[in-house]
Amino acid sequence: MFICPSMLSANPTKLGDELVSLEKAGADSIHWDIMDGTFVDAITFGHHVVAAHRKLSHLRFDVHLMVENPDKQIENFFRAGADVVIVHAEVCKHLHRTLGNIKSLGIKCGLALNPATTIEVVEYCADIIDMVLVMGVNPGSSGQNFIKSQLKKISALRRVLPLSMEINIDGGITAETIKACALHGANSFVSGSHIFKNSNYSNVIRELRYSCSNLAQINCPK
Ligand code: DX5
Ligand code: ZN
Repeated sequence: MFICPSMLSANPTKLGDELVSLEKAGADSIHWDIMDGTFVDAITFGHHVVAAHRKLSHLRFDVHLMVENPDKQIENFFRAGADVVIVHAEVCKHLHRTLGNIKSLGIKCGLALNPATTIEVVEYCADIIDMVLVMGVNPGSSGQNFIKSQLKKISALRRVLPLSMEINIDGGITAETIKACALHGANSFVSGSHIFKNSNYSNVIRELRYSCSNLAQINCPK
């Protein structure tokens, strides 16, 4: 199980320290939520912020572009050190081309689906993508409750995607909801508020991992 803390919930006055602590605490990757004030209301980090933190960590950097015009940002975040760039199906006019452009940079690409977006869009991109990111909440902020209807979407994706495909759930992940998501076939989890509201990151990451550790056998429902 892959645990990806979201820097959106980190202390903004000490992002570097937070990053180092997360790596020591056993995080598997770092999730950067990039918001442009248009696709979602909030504005968060630009590529300079991600670049400034790149040298502080060896962890995989996942850049989740919640922006209206992702094509304009891909190269910037690649140069900033992103290992995975994730774009939203809802905003890409030429989704297949956008995903291909990310891959052509030699990094991984992810396809994000909002709660109301159906899985059909994945079918003809499945051969290019490295990850599907299922939004467990509507994008825009941390600390929201997991939308239970997304469990059905996770199962449906797991049925059609190769077992090796990363199905990353973003939003509303707690020690409880992670279990349900894993049971439905997810193998990778973003967590913001749940991790950062705890003072001991090692404990909370271990607890998240433990919550789904015994479910591996039933990870891929038929
Ligand atoms: C929401 C972001 C999430 C957010 C998750 O738009 O994409 O990554 O940080 O936060 P929690 O885990 O608090 O729901
Ligand atoms: Zn995110």
